[in-house]
Amino acid sequence: MITSKELRDKYLKFFQDRGHAVIRSASLIPDNDPTVLFTTAGMHPLVPFLLGAAHPQGKRLTNVQKCVRTGDIDEVGDATHCTFFEMLGNWSLGDYFKKESITWSYEFLTQVLKINPDTLAVSVFAGDADAPRDELSADTWASLGIARERIFYLPKQNNWWGPAGLTGPCGPDTEIFIVRDVPKCCETCSPACSCGKYVEIWNNVFMEYNKQADGSYLPLAQKNVDTGMGLERTVAMLNGYHTVYETDVFASVVALLRQKAVAELSAEEATKAVRIIADHLRTATFMLGDEKGVTPSNVDQGYILRRLIRRSLRFARKLELDPETLIEVARIYISTYQEVYTELATNKNKILNELQQEIDKFSVALQQGLKEFEKLCKYIQNNRISGKAAFRLYDTFGFPIEITAELAQDNGITVDMQGYENCYKEHQLKSQAGAEQKFKGGLADHSEQTAKLHTATHLLLASLKKVLGDDTIQQKGSNITAERLRFDFNFPRSLTKDEIKAVEDAVNSAIQAKYAIACEEMPLEQAKASGATGVFESKYNEFVKVYTMGDYSKEICGGPHAANTADLGTFKIVKEQSSSSGIRRIKGILQ
Ligand code: SER
Repeated sequence: MITSKELRDKYLKFFQDRGHAVIRSASLIPDNDPTVLFTTAGMHPLVPFLLGAAHPQGKRLTNVQKCVRTGDIDEVGDATHCTFFEMLGNWSLGDYFKKESITWSYEFLTQVLKINPDTLAVSVFAGDADAPRDELSADTWASLGIARERIFYLPKQNNWWGPAGLTGPCGPDTEIFIVRDVPKCCETCSPACSCGKYVEIWNNVFMEYNKQADGSYLPLAQKNVDTGMGLERTVAMLNGYHTVYETDVFASVVALLRQKAVAELSAEEATKAVRIIADHLRTATFMLGDEKGVTPSNVDQGYILRRLIRRSLRFARKLELDPETLIEVARIYISTYQEVYTELATNKNKILNELQQEIDKFSVALQQGLKEFEKLCKYIQNNRISGKAAFRLYDTFGFPIEITAELAQDNGITVDMQGYENCYKEHQLKSQAGAEQKFKGGLADHSEQTAKLHTATHLLLASLKKVLGDDTIQQKGSNITAERLRFDFNFPRSLTKDEIKAVEDAVNSAIQAKYAIACEEMPLEQAKASGATGVFESKYNEFVKVYTMGDYSKEICGGPHAANTADLGTFKIVKEQSSSSGIRRIKGILQ
C-alpha cells in the first residue's frame, strides 16, 4: 500500500536529491491571467519563467500543485474524472533536457516506486510539418530497457502539449503508461485508445516552441522540461485500485457518505451520487480555503464554486442525506489535507461558514422553487412544462432543471427539455456569466500593456491605503487583460466620488514622479520584515521577488512590470463596485 503522503514525499525528495528546489503550490486562482479561471497544471504559474524570466529559486524546480479543471464536470461520477487534483511536477528552465528527464522518470518509477518495467509503455511524438519525429526520446527509452514494441509514435493530437491557450510555450511530449493486464481491444490498440489497457501516469513535455497568434511555432529562447504526474491516479494504480475514490484521500469521505445515505437507489446510482459529492466538495473546500479565497457568487470563479456546491446538494438530496453531512465532509477534507495545504487550517472557519450559508441559500431556493412548481402544475397544458417555464424556475429561483425533471416525472408530467436548452443557451450568450468558456481559453498575455497595467495595480494598492487611510487594505484579487485592470480589496463601503478622484490623482502623481521600478530577490521573511506587502502566505525560507517603486510602493510579486512608472500614461478608474461582502472591486485603464 502506498499513501498519497508517501508518494508526495518520495517524489519531492527524489527531485530534491537531483538539484531541484521544492516550491510551494501556487494559489488555485491564477495571477493576472484573464483567460482561465483556475490553475490547471503545475506549469501554469511558471509561464513567465518558461518564457525566459529568471526564477528566484533556480533552473530546477519541483512541487505538488493543486489544480482545478472543470471542463469535464459532467463526467464526474465515473471512475476517473475529478474536478480537483494534485499534480506532481518537475521542471527544467533551460537546464537539463530530454535525456535526463526521461532517465529520471524511469528511475523514479522503477527504483523508487518499484514498478515492474515490463508493465510500462511510452509514447513519443511521431513528427509533422511543425516539428521532427522525436527519435531522441524513443532511443533514450529503448536504452533504458523499454522494449521497442512498447514505444509508440503518436501524432500531435496525442503527443504534444500546449499551449494552454492560443499562444505560448508548448512542445512534443512523451507520456508514460502503466499497461493493465487486460486483453488488447484490437490489433492496433495503443495508448491512443481509450479502452483502458494503457493508463497514463506521467507526461514529460519538452517545451521548445512558442506558438504564435498566426499559428506558427517559433523556437523558445530556452528549452524547458515540464512534467506532470496526477497524484490520485498514480496512487490508485500503484495500489491496484480501479478508481481514485478508493485511495486514502477519499476513503473516509466515501465511507461516511455510504453510511449516512438512506435512499434506496440502485448500486450504480448511489455510487455516482457518492462520487459526485466526494469530488465536488473536495474542490469546493479547496476553493473556499484557498489563500486567495473564493466565495460563491454568480460570476467567474464564484459561479463555478456555487455550481459545485449546489450540484453536491442535489445529489445529497437524491441520497436523502442530511445537508449537515456535507459540512462533516468538508471537515474531513480539511483534516486530511491541512498538513500539506496549511491554508485549509487557516481558513477553516471561512470554509465551513460559507458552505453552511450556501446550503441555506439553496434550501430557500428549493422551497420557493417547489411552490412555484406546484403553481405551475395547475396551469400547464397537455401535462407538459414548457421550456420557458422550466428556465424561469432555474433563472429566477435557482431551481435546477434536473430537479424540475425529477419532480415532473413523479407527477406524470413531461418537460420540454429542448425548449429549456434553447432558453439556457440564449441566456448564456447574452450573459457575462459564460464563465466556463474561459476554461477553453489560454494563458496570460504577457504583453507590454499587461505589464504596465500590472505596475498600475501596485500603485493603485498603495494609493488606496494612502487616500483611505487604511493600512489593513489588501489585494483580494487581481485580473488583468490587455485593456484594463481589475482589482479587488477589502473595504467595508463604497468609495465616494471624491475618494475615487483622489485615488486616481495619487496614482497619477506616482506615475509622474517617474519612479524606476526595482526588483530584488530575497527570502520571504526578509521581504516581510522590510515592509513589503504581499498576498501570499508561503513557506518559510522561500525566495520571492520584491518590486519597489521609489518610496511609494513595495510589494512581493512575480512580475512582469514596466521599467519606469513614467511609461504608464494616465490612470483612470472606470468602475468602483461591490465584489462580495466586505470586498470592493475597481476597474481601471491606462490612457
Ligand atoms: N503541462 C503538462 C500537463 O498538464 C505536464 O505537466 O500534463
